[in-house]
This record gives sequence, C-alpha cells and structure tokens, in this order.
Amino acid sequence: MKFISGNPFLKKVDGKIYIDSIPLERILRDFRTPLMILLENKLIENLTTFKSVFNSVFSNKKFEGFYSFKANFLPEICELIRANDYGAELVGLPELKLALRVGFPSNRIIIGGPYLSKDLIQASVEAKVKEIIVYNLNDLKIINSIAQQFDFIQNICLRVNSHKFDSRLGIILNENNLIRLKQIVNENNNIKITTILSHYSTQMNNFEQYKKNIQSIADNLKKLSKINLTINNINLGGGFPEATVIKKDQLENLAINIKTSLEELEIDYNHIYFEPGRYFVGDIGVFLTKVVKVGENRWIFLNIGNNICPKFARCSLRFYNLSKINEPHNYKTSIAGIIPTDQDVLAKNYFFTKNLDEEDIVLVTNVGAYTLTFSNRFPYPFPKICTIQNENIKQIFDPSIDHDISLQ
Ligand SMILES: Cc1ncc(COP(=O)(O)O)c(C=O)c1O
Repeated sequence: MKFISGNPFLKKVDGKIYIDSIPLERILRDFRTPLMILLENKLIENLTTFKSVFNSVFSNKKFEGFYSFKANFLPEICELIRANDYGAELVGLPELKLALRVGFPSNRIIIGGPYLSKDLIQASVEAKVKEIIVYNLNDLKIINSIAQQFDFIQNICLRVNSHKFDSRLGIILNENNLIRLKQIVNENNNIKITTILSHYSTQMNNFEQYKKNIQSIADNLKKLSKINLTINNINLGGGFPEATVIKKDQLENLAINIKTSLEELEIDYNHIYFEPGRYFVGDIGVFLTKVVKVGENRWIFLNIGNNICPKFARCSLRFYNLSKINEPHNYKTSIAGIIPTDQDVLAKNYFFTKNLDEEDIVLVTNVGAYTLTFSNRFPYPFPKICTIQNENIKQIFDPSIDHDISLQ
C-alpha cells in the first residue's frame, strides 16, 4: 500500500487506487470529471491532530481554535468542524447566518474584519458573539452605541497590524491612535477589550514568520500597557500550511517554539487562540480531472483551470496521472487550465509521467482551502462536489441545480 500525496485517504493498493475506501473506478463510473471531492475522515484527522498538539503544548493555558470560514464555507464542512468542538472565525453577515444555522454556539463565534457594516455589528451583538474583531478604531464607537441599545457589554478583539511588509490590515498603535484608543475606552462603557490578534500570513512554512508575529503581539501589548489596558487573551491568527505538508511532529515543534517564544518575550495571557483555515481543510480537497489536450513541448491541458483552481488560493498543488499511476512521475511537464488565456497555468515543469494521453485522469491534491473562495465566474460551470467518508460518497453540490456556492 502506498499513500498518494502523503495523504492516508488517497491510497494505491495492489496497483488500484482508492479514495478513502472507494475504488477510483466506482467514482469514475458514477461521476464525470471534473469532480471535487472532500475527504471527511481527513478533516477529522486534521482537527484532532491540531487540538491534541496545541492542548498538550499549552496545557497550562487554555487553547481554543476558531475555524476561519473563509477557507471553505461549504455548510457540510463547517458543520463537521463544529461537531469536532471548534469555534468559528467569521468576516461577514452571510457567514454568521451560516455558523448559527449549522449550530455553532454564539460564545464560540468571533467575527470581524476590515469592513463592519451596522447590520453585521447589530446581528453580532444580538447573537451575543464571543468577540467582535476590530480592524479600525472608528468601529469601536459604533459597536458601543449598538451594544448600549441592547444593554450589553461587548467583548472586543483588537486586530493589530502585524508589521509584515506592506500589510495594510489592522490597527497601527502609534502615539495618536493610542491616545484615541484610551479616550474611546474611557468614554464607552459598553465595550471591553479582551483580546489582541495579529495574523501574519498564510502558508507560513518557517518559524521566523511565526516569531515575527509573536514579536508584533509583544510590541503591541507593551504599547497597550502604557495606556493601562490589560489584555487577557492573545490570538495568533492562522497561517499553517496543509496538514500533509506540515506533519504532526513538525506541528508539535512549531507549537513548542511558539510557546517558548511567548515565554522569552514575557507575554502574559490567560487564553491563546488560533484561527486556522488551510491546515484544517487544505488537504481534504482533491479534483478529479482529465487531460483534454496534449500540446507541444510537454504541455497538457486539464478540464479545470484558474476559474476553480486559482493562484490566489496559494494551494500546495500536486498532480498525479491516475491512468498511469504505476509509471514513474519524473518527466517535466507543464500543466495548463481551460481558460482561454496563456495566464491559466497550473504548474510549469512539474514531474509527471513520460506518456501523456488525452483522457488520462489526473488527480490534483491540496485544493480544499480557498479554491472555492477565490473561484471566479469565467463561463464554465462549477464541478460537482462530493464528500467521501469510508465507503460512502455523497453529492453536496450539483451546478445544474444549485448554480452557485455563494452565501446569502
Ligand atoms: C485574520 C485571519 N485569520 C485566519 C486566517 C486563516 O488563514 P489560514 O487559512 O492561512 O490558516 C486568515 C486568512 O487570511 C486571516 O486573515
């Protein structure tokens, strides 16, 4: 038995391919390509690993994880994450409605972003969410006045600018803003600042990036203490690579290094929060696609492209020729999509099989995070989407009936 793409739910057994416990042949008999498949057992494995690592490393502090819905907001996925006892990190009203609908308790929901509409604030206060995340000091007064109407004290998480080069997101605590913040806190009794958040980047594959983020938290906490603001909780955001890319022992090392760094910088906190998106859902998603054209110079064209597998998603894409899975994948091949522009390149000089034929079935892995989010409406239909768990396959999206994955 051999795992494909390091994923225990994509297997080759005696030359036959299985997706979880289902033979590939059966899937291809029942579905046409392109098809998106989401591996529920892989999701459960990722959720369990993350929780066991961070609970054990931060055993003396309370760790809590909030799934970043933007990575993949299919209701079936969000519901499974809720059932595994995670909270939700949301950016907008449609996500809030979804989170409540799939049963996230409001005290496990944190919500906010660069744009907080009054409707969003009102719905969040009304639902009694755990925290509203504020990227802009002006929002604090609006939240206060809405909380006052509900006779409620709203907990606030301050998103600070991580000082990553060029980042425009989050509050910069310069002298002016500190004076303003102090005044706002003194004058607005229906808000309480409980948490500080710094999210540095996505696909962070070396500890230096996490360290810079922790340094940003330390610098900002120091500034906040100058105006006598004590913050109880720290939130380090998301940014972890796919679970098949960062294995459990590496995640453990990372967690230990994060903890050591926090101790070295003498950061005091009661709770530590993370908001993973990609780590949970990245490697649960695969596309089954086929070669529709073999071009010159070892270029192949698949029946998916940047419309559904966008560069913005920053997935760790891997490609396997399932029709020739027993052949070595060691011939440089370039892989293009179906959008009629030369920009639609999925990979250049990727190691693939020597023989390339139209109708070859190609597996694209690590496409569970941000592909649907950043997908576009170039005039091709979405693929069907299925979940697989053990020997069960369930179609959850059919473009001819459902049309669109947008949240309302
Ligand atoms: C504030 C915040 N938290 C969490 C995430 C999730 O990041 P990732 O999917 O890389 O874990 C993002 C992604 O952009 C984010 O902006």
